[in-house]
Amino acid sequence: MKSFKVVLVVMAAAIIALGTTAAYAFHSGGVAECTGCHHLHDASSSSALLAGSDASSTCLNCHGASGASSYRISTPDADMPAGTPPGNRTPGGDFGWVKKTYTWSPRSGSTSTSEGDRHGHNIVAADFGYVADGTNATAPGGDMDATLLGCNSCHDNHGKLRRLSDGTFATTGAPIIGSGSYNTSADPAAGQAVGAYRILRGNGSSAGDGGKIFTANFNAVAPSTYNRSEATTPTRVAYGAGTSDWCATCHADMHSGTSSKMTHPINQGLGTTVAGNYNAYVGSGNMTGSAATSYDSLIPFQTDNTTDYTVLKANSTNTGSVSTGPATSDRVMCLSCHRAHATGWDYMLRTNVEGNEFIAVDGVWPGTDSPSTIANQAKYAQGRTVAETTKAYNDTTMHYASYQRVLCNKCHAKD
Ligand code: HEC
Ligand code: HEC
Ligand code: HEC
Ligand code: HEC
Ligand code: HEC
Ligand code: HEC
Repeated sequence: MKSFKVVLVVMAAAIIALGTTAAYAFHSGGVAECTGCHHLHDASSSSALLAGSDASSTCLNCHGASGASSYRISTPDADMPAGTPPGNRTPGGDFGWVKKTYTWSPRSGSTSTSEGDRHGHNIVAADFGYVADGTNATAPGGDMDATLLGCNSCHDNHGKLRRLSDGTFATTGAPIIGSGSYNTSADPAAGQAVGAYRILRGNGSSAGDGGKIFTANFNAVAPSTYNRSEATTPTRVAYGAGTSDWCATCHADMHSGTSSKMTHPINQGLGTTVAGNYNAYVGSGNMTGSAATSYDSLIPFQTDNTTDYTVLKANSTNTGSVSTGPATSDRVMCLSCHRAHATGWDYMLRTNVEGNEFIAVDGVWPGTDSPSTIANQAKYAQGRTVAETTKAYNDTTMHYASYQRVLCNKCHAKD
């Protein structure tokens, strides 16, 4: 009976996936159908009568299903044998990367390793083989116990936080009419509300697993189709006010310039030099670009400190219709360098920063199976196949320079 119900849930999700209209949605920006997550008489977990062994396994019954598309953010083990990358290409990233450990030999006689658990947030989801981080006992720069990290540490399983018609956030006060995450989301009329971006916790939300209370709201808008190849056009999420303060809820010392972590500036305007570099940068040694076409989803920035959803909606697209780079008042944020879930690279970085002078050689993404005749591909690819490095960049074409150095240079142009 139990497994039969799980099958039903998965089937329901598959049917939902086919639909594109709100009528087929599950959360619709707020609390979803109770029995999608709670089984009242045949639950897998005695705690809160959950459909899975724990909260995150309950989410992954749908979000971890096979077939990379739409709302899926975790590839099942069977779909990603050695050499095959996780398939989802969402802005947050596919948690499957935390199960991918790579070893390679950068020079004869030495071995390097890129541990899976360095690749992202190690959520604990017993039914899907996700275990706590082996190194970080607590959140670096904070004190949260890493064994408690789950989907509902960051997302509200009951989706109570809402954006009201006057732009303020509350956990009650007007009914939620639908998701507020998309460039196609309705604007709430007086007496209505839409869900907070990605049903993330924020100011007023109760604590989820791990006990952290958020005071910052995460303002952003995503294109309505966001799990896709970025080979021809980028998936541009428009990030607004609060994104870095939101991460700092659990990583306070990674945020403060005065902490012992000697943090990179965040939450401050890019200024003339950095914005100018970003807009001119095409690739190593090539500064011929222009502001109108310089946007790069591998190095996103926050739109000033805005909470204006008209502006955010206009900036969020997957058609390439808004390719403009930053203004001097736009900001560097945690997500300029990291993703929120997991990535193909160490420290959950959007691009390969660690341990290599070149991120691409011979004009293509590197790989252990690359046809390139340039020696030592395993070193440049850090043990990954071409399919894996390509997917780690969300299938973005290698459009930089034939010998491309790290993408810190998009803002700093030291190459
Ligand atoms: C998306 C999944 C999901 C949906 C849908 C959902 N819940 Fe829950 N619910 C959870 C999880 C996960 C917990 C456990 C929270 C924890 O362990 O911190 C929980 C806990 C609870 C609890 C006990 C703790 C508390 O917060 O009071 C109640 C009561 C509850 N849910 C009621 C409901 C009702 C009623 C509905 C439908 C209107 C519903 N839930 C829909 C995931 C869900
Ligand atoms: C029964 C299947 C199912 C379960 C269980 C489920 N989800 Fe979802 N989820 C969906 C579907 C379908 C969508 C896309 C449609 C929608 O947003 O309603 C979605 C969308 C989302 C989104 C994007 C919503 C938005 O408005 O931007 C988030 C975030 C999310 N789910 C988190 C969770 C978390 C966290 C849990 C567990 C506490 C969970 N889901 C459990 C099916 C499910
Ligand atoms: C550390 C906090 C954190 C945890 C843990 C987390 N999420 Fe997210 N999630 C986010 C943030 C932030 C975003 C928005 C990312 C963006 O737009 O750049 C997001 C986005 C999403 C989306 C939209 C697609 C995407 O990837 O952009 C879904 C669906 C989702 N999360 C589901 C889940 C589920 C299911 C889990 C647990 C298996 C989970 N999340 C765990 C913070 C988290
Ligand atoms: C609810 C608390 C919470 C929030 C919010 C949160 N994190 Fe974390 N983060 C953790 C915990 C716990 C760990 C340690 C476990 C691990 O490394 O998987 C961690 C680890 C990390 C790591 C190290 C990964 C590794 O293994 O080396 C990075 C990088 C990171 N977080 C960045 C972020 C960013 C960026 C955000 C905002 C989008 C964010 N975190 C939001 C709790 C959180
Ligand atoms: C300019 C790029 C950049 C920005 C912005 C940035 N980080 Fe990082 N972060 C890195 C790099 C690179 C590393 C790898 C470690 C190193 O080289 O210091 C890292 C490492 C981390 C780690 C792991 C540290 C450890 O001890 O394992 C955490 C956690 C983290 N960052 C969180 C954040 C948070 C939270 C923010 C925003 C408040 C943020 N980062 C902003 C580039 C960045
Ligand atoms: C989105 C743009 C952006 C990216 C990407 C970026 N930076 Fe920065 N960086 C800035 C801004 C803005 C400043 C502060 C203004 C300045 O120093 O010009 C800064 C300052 C710095 C400083 C000087 C810090 C100080 O306290 O004086 C260093 C060093 C630095 N960045 C290194 C890096 C490295 C290494 C990377 C890649 C991991 C990186 N940055 C990626 C925008 C960026």
